[in-house]
Amino acid sequence: WVLVKTAQTPTNIAVIKYWGKRDETLILPVNDSISVTLDPAHLCTTTTVAVSPAFQQDRMWLNGKEISLSGGRYQNCLREIRKRAREVEDKERGIKIEKKDWAKLHLHIASYNNFPTAAGLASSAAGFACLVFALAKLMNVSEDESQLSAIARQGSGSACRSLFGGFVKWIMGKEDDGSDSLAVQLVDEKHWEDLFIIIAVVSSRQKETSSTSGMRESVETSSLLQHRAKEVVPKRTIQMEEAIQNRDFASFAKLACADSNQFHAVCLDTLPPIFYMNDTSHRIISYVEKWNRSEGTPQVAYTFDAGPNAVLIARDRKAAAQLIQRLLFYFPPKSDTDLDSYLLGDKTI
Ligand code: DP6
Repeated sequence: WVLVKTAQTPTNIAVIKYWGKRDETLILPVNDSISVTLDPAHLCTTTTVAVSPAFQQDRMWLNGKEISLSGGRYQNCLREIRKRAREVEDKERGIKIEKKDWAKLHLHIASYNNFPTAAGLASSAAGFACLVFALAKLMNVSEDESQLSAIARQGSGSACRSLFGGFVKWIMGKEDDGSDSLAVQLVDEKHWEDLFIIIAVVSSRQKETSSTSGMRESVETSSLLQHRAKEVVPKRTIQMEEAIQNRDFASFAKLACADSNQFHAVCLDTLPPIFYMNDTSHRIISYVEKWNRSEGTPQVAYTFDAGPNAVLIARDRKAAAQLIQRLLFYFPPKSDTDLDSYLLGDKTI
């Protein structure tokens, strides 16, 4: 017999960035972060997990290619979820897995991203969140989403925020064992339905410096990172939570853009400096800043993760439509097929 479960998890985009760990193994951050989870219909990971007595070892396929599960991050997630596995019974098929059996049974895992992997579109976030969620379903785990988020966090920090929809906060926590470093939902996906998120794929090439090694170098060499984590983010997080609660787009946009810019300033302050944005990214920033100033009140917020792609958050449908028109005019695709590179989300959060 084979028992199978499938889960689908959207990616999330940080508006207050996580950059820097205080514990590399447990993946504990140096500051809180806040993100928005995208609509599951768009950028998401789909993961199918299967268990069978016929499986000889744990195996995993990512976008159709087998990958190694020997890395510490996968092993940590699998170990933590196995610890919480409970009895599973499928009466129709006469299958019963007792709690103690899970330690002996092997898993096969197949995961697909519907967007470019490692192009700064937070694929690891959706990936580990989906893996943990699918396994929790398969193994009848009773823990809630926040507790599962603490397991997903050990796969990739940003993954812990993808267990919820809407706006989500990853609380950095204080404990050395990481037990209080988990995600909570600030507001659900219905709270701020006016927002539209547009992702302008500037380049779908794999990034040169991974987030993991980039932030390690920043922690080791950037004094701006220390200042950001201790002085800036604690205050900014409170202001951002307020802006989200009040659906105050002007404050939201100001804080999100400032935080993205400071994160990239930390990257420049790293030795050797890390350049995630390119000329097109910079032109998009200048363009949005100019447009927002000319309107008197912000229409669009921008934020960039560890790559050149722009995540643009429009205040409403009208601003989103104008933005798309303007992007196509000022940043024309090089060919018709290039139009595909504008991933235009129809509806956001
Ligand atoms: C710039 O979560 O990919 O997207 O924990 O080492 O796997 P690891 O890093 P990762 O870093 C994400 C960094 C970011 C900002 C964010 O999502 O908060």
